[in-house]
This record gives sequence, C-alpha cells and structure tokens, in this order.
Amino acid sequence: MRLILLGPPGAGKGTQAKMLAEKFGIPQISTGDILRKAVSNDTELGKQARAAMDDGQLVPDEIVIGLIKEKIREGDCSRGFILDGFPRTIVQAEKLSETLEEMNLSIDTVIDFEVNPQELLERLTGRRSCSNCGAMFHDETRQPKKAGICDDCGHELYQRPDDNRETIIKRLDVYEKETAPLKEFYRKRGNLKSIEGRGSVEEIFSQVCSLVS
Ligand code: AP5
Repeated sequence: MRLILLGPPGAGKGTQAKMLAEKFGIPQISTGDILRKAVSNDTELGKQARAAMDDGQLVPDEIVIGLIKEKIREGDCSRGFILDGFPRTIVQAEKLSETLEEMNLSIDTVIDFEVNPQELLERLTGRRSCSNCGAMFHDETRQPKKAGICDDCGHELYQRPDDNRETIIKRLDVYEKETAPLKEFYRKRGNLKSIEGRGSVEEIFSQVCSLVS
C-alpha cells in the first residue's frame, strides 16, 4: 500500500499517518519529522532547512526530493509507505512519479484532508509534541495525563517553533499557493480522495481505513 496524505498544516496528516503505519505495518515517511530531527542535531541538512522552516516557508525542492528518493529505496518500504507532508509542490510530485516509475511502482491513493482555517489555527496553536516519540497532544482537546509529559513515553512535551500564530498564517498561505494545486494534479490521475477532516481522530481514522482497504 502506497499512500500520500495531503492537507494543510494541522489537518491531521501526522496523527492519521501514525495510526495507519501501526495498523498496516508500513512506515510513515514525514519530511517534516526528518527535517526537524536534522535541525535538532544541527546536521548540514538541518542548517540548510532551519531558516525556511522557522519562517513557515518550504525547504527547497532539491533537498526534500533527495531525502525521499533515499527513503523509498530503503528495505522497510518494500511493502509500502505513507507519505506525510510530501509532495508539497508540483515539482516534488513530478519527481516522485518519475522515481516510482523507475522502480515499477505507483501511488495507490492520495487522501486529501479538508479542514477550515480557523480550526487549523486552534489545533496548531494548542499543539504539544513529544520530544522523544513524536506523540501529539493539545492544550484543550487532548491533554496529557500529567501536564507537559508524554503519556506514551514519559518524555517532555514541547511546542514547535513554527506553531505560533504569525508563522501558522504564513504556512497556510504557502499551502494554498504551493501545495493545494496538487489536488488537481492527483484528481486528473484518478487517485485523489477527499474527506472532511473534522470530527474525532477515531472517526476520521475509520473513514480513512474505508478508503484504503
Ligand atoms: P510538517 O511537519 O509536514 O508540518 P505541516 O504540514 O505544517 O503539518 P503539521 O505537522 O503541522 O500538521 P498535521 O497535518 O500533521 O497535523 P497533526 O496530525 O500534527 O512541515 C513542517 C515544515 O517542514 C514546513 O513548513 C516546511 O518548512 C518543511 N517541509 C516539510 N516537508 C516539506 C516538503 N515536502 N517540501 C518543502 N518543505 C517541507 O495535528 C495537528 C494538531 O491537531 C495536533 O495537536 C493533533 O492532536 C490535533 N488533531 C489531529 N486530528 C484532529 C482531529 N480530528 N480533531 C481535533 N484535533 C485534531
């Protein structure tokens, strides 16, 4: 199973990708997580990506395309994968198609999560992420049992530097300009499925599973 999760910042791509990865036993490939890890380890990649990420802009195509090509050739992707946050531009989508064609593979389904901007803003300003396992919480809608501590692994929760109101508004704008055109790109290819991303995480997961099973 090879899936793309498409949708604006805060639409729930990461939340649903983790659940799908566990249910179907295939890896989640999140370019955002890979880049954040590189930034936190201050690697060469991290140094190249940091400024764009902190400013809510996209990291240059050639950097993320290189990352993805490497990832999908790894052994654990042989049974499939879930792309979370990639592709984000038409150039990235075209390069992904080329790479998969070279491997005689293709994308099965692109799931597009539609959520209104006000809800996205509320979700992201309240999001708290685990610094260790990546589990996600929310100040109001999904509080951890112990404040500031991950329920799953006991590590500290943190707020992403790009989860402030000003940067979120820029990220939503970048999404509309650069990424939303991918809906038409995949609609023309016949594998786009859009769902309303509002409702409980479990309700949405059940809709997603019915689209991919
Ligand atoms: P990335 O990490 O991909 O961030 P994003 O796309 O902005 O998406 P988010 O992670 O913010 O949201 P999400 O849709 O995963 O929602 P989540 O499940 O967390 O990218 C970060 C940056 O890296 C980019 O800005 C860019 O600079 C760079 N980058 C990454 N990929 C790139 C690429 N391909 N090209 C160039 N640059 C790239 O949920 C959000 C919150 O809502 C959580 O608190 C969650 O608990 C809550 N929530 C989830 N579902 C629900 C629900 N159903 N109801 C209520 N709350 C919910």
